[in-house]
Amino acid sequence: MANSVALKTFTALSDLQPNMANLKIIGIVIGKTDVKGFPDRKNIGSERYTFNFTIRDSPTHFVNVASWGKEDYIKSLSDSFRVGECVIIENPLVQRKEIEREEKFNPATPINYKLLLSENHSVVKVCSSYEVDTKLLALIHLPVKESHDYYSLGDIVANGHSLDGRIINVLAAVRSVGEPKHFTTSDRRKGQRCEIKLYDETEPSFAMTCWDNESILLAQSWVPRETVIFASDVKITFDKFRNCMIATVISKTIITSNPDTPEANILLNFIRENKETNVLTNEIDSYLKESINLSAIVDVYTVEQLKAKTLKNEGKADPVYGIVYAFISTLNIDDEITKVVRNRCSNCGYIVNEVSNTCVTCNKNYSGFKPTFLSFDMLVDLTDHTGTLHSCSLTGSIAEDTLGCTVNEFLAMTGEQKTALKWQFLLERSKIYLKFVLSHRARGGLRISILSCKLADPTEASRSLSGQGHM
Ligand SMILES: *[C@@H]1O[C@H](CO)[C@@H](O)[C@H](O)[C@H]1NC(C)=O
Ligand SMILES: *[C@@H]1O[C@H](CO)[C@@H](O)[C@H](O)[C@H]1NC(C)=O
Ligand SMILES: *[C@@H]1O[C@H](CO)[C@@H](O)[C@H](O)[C@H]1NC(C)=O
Ligand SMILES: *[C@@H]1O[C@H](CO)[C@@H](O)[C@H](O)[C@H]1NC(C)=O
Ligand SMILES: *[C@@H]1O[C@H](CO)[C@@H](O)[C@H](O)[C@H]1NC(C)=O
Repeated sequence: MANSVALKTFTALSDLQPNMANLKIIGIVIGKTDVKGFPDRKNIGSERYTFNFTIRDSPTHFVNVASWGKEDYIKSLSDSFRVGECVIIENPLVQRKEIEREEKFNPATPINYKLLLSENHSVVKVCSSYEVDTKLLALIHLPVKESHDYYSLGDIVANGHSLDGRIINVLAAVRSVGEPKHFTTSDRRKGQRCEIKLYDETEPSFAMTCWDNESILLAQSWVPRETVIFASDVKITFDKFRNCMIATVISKTIITSNPDTPEANILLNFIRENKETNVLTNEIDSYLKESINLSAIVDVYTVEQLKAKTLKNEGKADPVYGIVYAFISTLNIDDEITKVVRNRCSNCGYIVNEVSNTCVTCNKNYSGFKPTFLSFDMLVDLTDHTGTLHSCSLTGSIAEDTLGCTVNEFLAMTGEQKTALKWQFLLERSKIYLKFVLSHRARGGLRISILSCKLADPTEASRSLSGQGHM
């Protein structure tokens, strides 16, 4: 008795009826939105706050809970529990749900009702996991859809555009969890973004983006190459710049970490078996090349315009793509001091420590053979008649294409040959495709990557220069 809250004292979600009095229910939180504020129509000038969550008390029953109220109440309620914790709710209002309206922005639930919390009448208590029946805790590992009702990543890629805009379920392993990026929108709202890379037996890397704190927080608990997730109702779209399909976590999405299903166990075995040995070249390529459809990039800028555009874009975490006609004004490939080539881990593509020559991320205690490979990794300056962009990164196969030689050919060159190579590019007008991303880690808060750099067709360049740049 002391170690478990007796389930008898609670009403099961399957028994909910409208307007039940003295209702007391218990459930594990399987989904939760961020807090949002709205102008209060009844009280002009003040705001009402809301957040929603979803609780479950059996494999087949879960329900959405909506809470509205004053800022303090809603924020402290929202801060009091997370996904994966159990809550007891006393005196919620049981309301019949209008399915279409309710499920447009909330998870689809098998129950015809939703619960409303009111500041004055309802009480929410968070239970410690020691007090709760383990059967309830185990529900966190049960997907909210049939365990076989999902697309493999390969299916999504193969279906391509036909899935653009669709809401589907995905079962996949976590390959990497990006750094959460915080930004402020032009109307001064705070936003955040975090990119997760997924993989499975059919696809080495597939991006999933989170835009809300709750899912970003959940994602921080995932262990790359160990965690499997079942994401129900994620939105699939075609990213025209990266030229690939991506998934986005939306307010309907419920993510089950480490699902306890036969399909998830098969995937888990796959990732365990491939953890130590896999050195798939297509994985390295997908990291380094991140195939971008250059023909989708059409906006031409001067350096000055790009700087202005970036300032205006400040706060947006989405990358900016553009073309400049400029020349490489700094290219330190022949001075012996600047590092031009680095070792990357063949497993994840990241730069590895020089001294140990092992990848810290992939392999904490690695002691033997884990291949690394050499890759160009340099910073160049780009200049046109309006200004200079400093420290643009030119790496991997893009650098090989630009310089017209492989890393190994480059390393075999004499100093004079390197200088000669450099002068083929310095001060020659080139057509350069660029990607700008905000990054705390980069100098000036901005990371500029060169996606392609080719000597420019003189007529094309002068036409674009004589004119009307962009904006
Ligand atoms: C919660 O759900 C209601 C519909 O029941 C919706 O109007 C509201 O915007 C949702 N709140 C959040 C923060 O998503
Ligand atoms: C809640 O109670 C307070 C004070 O007891 C009252 O002023 C307020 O109107 C009540 N709110 C609602 C929504 O009933
Ligand atoms: C999300 O987290 C950031 C940083 O912790 C915070 O500034 C922001 O207000 C949060 N947003 C919401 C909607 O909770
Ligand atoms: C690349 O983008 C262009 C222009 O948006 C489009 O016409 C072309 O089909 C795209 N190529 C691929 C392979 O998707
Ligand atoms: C590192 O080695 C320890 C003990 O040999 C082992 O328990 C641990 O799982 C290893 N960690 C990794 C990341 O391989």
